[in-house]
Amino acid sequence: MTVNTLTKTAADAPENQYSEEDQLTRWKETMGMFASGLTVITTTDENGDMTGSTVSAFSSLSLRPRLLLICLDKRSRTLDIVRRTGRFAINILNREAKDLAFKFGSKEPDKFNGVEWQTGYLGCPLLAQSCASIECTLETIHDGGDHEIVVGSPCQIERDQDAEALIYHRSQFL
Ligand SMILES: Cc1cc2nc3c(=O)[nH]c(=O)nc-3n(C[C@H](O)[C@H](O)[C@H](O)COP(=O)(O)O)c2cc1C
Repeated sequence: MTVNTLTKTAADAPENQYSEEDQLTRWKETMGMFASGLTVITTTDENGDMTGSTVSAFSSLSLRPRLLLICLDKRSRTLDIVRRTGRFAINILNREAKDLAFKFGSKEPDKFNGVEWQTGYLGCPLLAQSCASIECTLETIHDGGDHEIVVGSPCQIERDQDAEALIYHRSQFL
């Protein structure tokens, strides 16, 4: 038996039968069903001022060469600095770092107040409450709708082998 799907159009697709508002709600809820770790992307600008953003959209990309990717909202101040300076660190948060996820997920002016960190090889802050911190140089940036896909190449990796990761699932920290 063959099924002819060539006559199908995107306009008639099941998801497009919902209102725009319902499409967005269904999209956010469905994406939230994928359990992920949480990262904080940190960087330092030309004046040495530090900034960072909580990011769940992180993935390993390639083994040879070693590459990873993060997706950053086009409105992110952290993205602006990464684009200008070409360096950033991915801090994979440990289970005790829930407060950091909230802090760096906000627009607070001094997100580093009370946060323990050390300076990486390229000058990015590496957060103490991490399972691992990976400091990267910027390889490329690709367009991804209202986000940018930022590809990085590792320069320095700091690890805490015993740490357990903070998990994010359906808007809850586990
Ligand atoms: C749990 C959680 C996950 C988030 N994941 C992302 C993400 O993957 N990409 C992104 O651009 N923003 C993400 N955000 C939102 C940013 O952290 C937030 O917009 C932040 O204020 C950006 O700061 P900035 O403008 O100083 O860079 C997430 C926030 C939270 C709380």
